[in-house]
Amino acid sequence: MNALNKKTIEDIEIKGKKVLVRCDFNVPINDGVITDDKRITESLPTIKYLLGQGAKVILCSHMGRPKGEFNMKYSLAPVAARLSELLGIEVKIASDVVGESAKELAASLKNGQAALIENVRFHAEEEKNDPGFAKQLASLAEIYVNDAFGTAHRAHASTAGVADYLPAVCGYLIQKEISIMGGALENPKRPFVAILGGAKVSDKIGVINNLLEKVDMIIIGGGMAYTFLKMQGYGIGTSICEENKLDLARELTLKAKAKDVKFLLPVDNKVGDAYKPDCNTKVVDSDSISDGWMGLDIGPKTQKLFADAIKDAKTVVWNGPMGVSEWDKFASGTVAEAKAIAESDSVSIIGGGDSAAAVEKLGFADKMTHISTGGGASLEFLEGLELPGIAALNNK
Ligand code: 3PG
Repeated sequence: MNALNKKTIEDIEIKGKKVLVRCDFNVPINDGVITDDKRITESLPTIKYLLGQGAKVILCSHMGRPKGEFNMKYSLAPVAARLSELLGIEVKIASDVVGESAKELAASLKNGQAALIENVRFHAEEEKNDPGFAKQLASLAEIYVNDAFGTAHRAHASTAGVADYLPAVCGYLIQKEISIMGGALENPKRPFVAILGGAKVSDKIGVINNLLEKVDMIIIGGGMAYTFLKMQGYGIGTSICEENKLDLARELTLKAKAKDVKFLLPVDNKVGDAYKPDCNTKVVDSDSISDGWMGLDIGPKTQKLFADAIKDAKTVVWNGPMGVSEWDKFASGTVAEAKAIAESDSVSIIGGGDSAAAVEKLGFADKMTHISTGGGASLEFLEGLELPGIAALNNK
């Protein structure tokens, strides 16, 4: 899939029109304070372009998972405040989504003004992709723009259904995400190395399968490495393991062999005696994880092995931490990978979620070619799946 075969905001007459823009403003908020505004800043090019064209911009998004109820804990009010600061104009927020407040606010906009409606997930119909709700959203505007890459894997009313009722085009963020990630997958500079981590093999099967068709090497770290190690006959103590995925792990390694794709697993591990941040720890080789101990991070030899492989790579795609990176004792594997990628000359693409957060936190963000704003969405894109939020848009 390539957004370039979809109409964009530059392919449509916008001046003076009411434009409903779906963004992904699902940002982390702590005590009312936005702790990472990347998803907001990444939506600015589209919003600024529309404002510059004299559009009346009606912004919408979800925030968290309020389960179809109005719950002000999930209000987008902090986002409206941040947008006002970043755009230098007042961005008002309606007190509802498709009710009187939203209708009045949308109708009151003048050319070059923007407003936000409340969290679309305050209505259960949003996640059900209910046509009636999609129509109500559409009735606020004359044009629909989807720029919510982070939610493009959801077929919801505001990401897909609404496109049935309005001319529907994509914004700059979706174009950027798809062209950079799609370009790397379709025409990578080689060697092309994929680094996959995270707890479960089951979350990454599709990605591994798809990437095996494209990459020269797959590096596996994180909890899912232990399913692969067990399949190879290693004792893994109490490490996380998906017993029902052992056959699949075998199939994936056989496929890698058949395709001549190198498959790297941890050779040593930092293990703990309990799944707790303050547990006792030691470093052991992968053939020496004893009963009562669990692998919670890659060890120093593995860090070096992986870093050496990354050093020679020309394209790197990374998704998922190498250990329980949110706990200090088990963060160093993930830090080492982020550092190795930052220091390499590769085209580096960081799937969203935990790996993106790690890269931002460590201050390596500007050393990476692209950090996706999508967690689940980037994973589904790397799996080669069609994203409903993009599929719904008008073709060129
Ligand atoms: C995300 O953070 O991955 C997106 O905003 C989608 O959120 P969701 O997983 O709640 O649909």
